[in-house]
Amino acid sequence: MPKINRRHFLKAAALTGASAVSTRLLHADGLRSSSKGPIGKPIAISSSNGTRALERVMEMILQGSDSLDAVISGVNIVEDDPNDTSVGYGGLPNEDGVVELDAAVMHGPSYRAGAVAALRNIKNPSKVARLVMERSDHVLIVGEGALKFARAHGFKEENLLTDESREAWLQWKENLSNQDDWLPPHSLEDTDIGQLYQKYLRHYGTIHCSALDMNGNLSCTTTTSGLAYKISGRVGDSGIIGAGLYCDNEVGSAGSTGRGEANLLNCSSVMIVEWMRQGKSPEEACLLACKRVNERCREKRLQDEEGRFKFDIKFYAINKRGEHGSASIWSGGQYLIHDGTQVQTLDCSYLFKHK
Ligand code: GLY
Repeated sequence: MPKINRRHFLKAAALTGASAVSTRLLHADGLRSSSKGPIGKPIAISSSNGTRALERVMEMILQGSDSLDAVISGVNIVEDDPNDTSVGYGGLPNEDGVVELDAAVMHGPSYRAGAVAALRNIKNPSKVARLVMERSDHVLIVGEGALKFARAHGFKEENLLTDESREAWLQWKENLSNQDDWLPPHSLEDTDIGQLYQKYLRHYGTIHCSALDMNGNLSCTTTTSGLAYKISGRVGDSGIIGAGLYCDNEVGSAGSTGRGEANLLNCSSVMIVEWMRQGKSPEEACLLACKRVNERCREKRLQDEEGRFKFDIKFYAINKRGEHGSASIWSGGQYLIHDGTQVQTLDCSYLFKHK
C-alpha cells in the first residue's frame, strides 16, 4: 500500500491552510484508486453517539495525526460530556451509586493495547488505558489498582456522578424487585427472572471508535460506564481486548456496544477481524458476530418467545481498504462514519426486524 508522505502532506496543508481541502489534496497527490475506494483515504467509524468525536478524529487525521491519538482525543469529548449517560462523566452508576468506567485502546502499527476496568473517579479512562499500554508492562489494570496507577500519572480524582444520573439511580434503587442482577437459583428453562431493562432504561451505552489514518495505520478505542446499576466491580466487554475492540494493522479494526456479557462469551471483535482477514466485508463480518451471539445463547431468560436473543449488541468495523460496516441483533440501529468530508449516519444491518 502506498504511504502518504506526512511531511509533504503537512506542507501542502499549511500552504492551503485548511483541513477541508485535505481530501482533495490526497487525490491530487496521485493516490491510486481501486474498485474498493481510494487507497490511503482515511476513514473513521463510531457508534451513533460519536458525531463530535468523529469530527475531531478526522480533523486530527487530516492534519497528519496518528490514528490512536485521534480516536482517544475524539472519545474524550464524549467522556467529558455530562449529557451522555453511558460514558465517562455523568455515566449511570453501579448499584451502589458509584460510577465505574471501563476502557481500552489498541494501536495497530505497534500492535500494543492497554485497558482499565472498574475505574472510579477518573473521567477519561481511555487516557489511562493508553498509559497502561505505554507506561506499564501490563495490558489490563482494574479497580483500586487502576485508580492508583492513574493517580501516579497525575490524574485528578473527581465525583463523576451528576445530579441527573444520581436521581435516575435513586429511582431504580427505590423500585428494586426480585428482578435485578442478583439471580436466585434457576434453570436454563426459567423465563421469568431477569433485569428490568425497559422500565428503568438500564442501558449499556458505550462509545466505540476505530480509524484508519493517512499513513494507512489503524487504531481503536472503546470507553463506557457500562451497564447502568450493575453489581459493583462488574466488567463488561469494553475494557477487554478481543471482545470490546480489536485491530490488526494488516486487516482491519472492530468494536462493539451493547450487552457486554454476550460479547465476552464470544470475543466478537477479534472474530470480526479474523473474518475480515478471511475475505469477509466489514458488514458481513459484523453480521457473523451477531449470528454467533444469537446461536450460542442457551439461556431462555435471555431469549424471546421465538428463541431469539432478546438484547441488542452492535458491532462496527473498518478494513484496511477503508471499507466500513456495522450490524446489530435487532433492526433500528445506526452508526456513524467520517470519510474525510463529513459525518454520515448509516443504518446497521441486522439479524431480526423489530415488529
Ligand atoms: N458494552 C458495554 C458493557 O456491556 O459494559
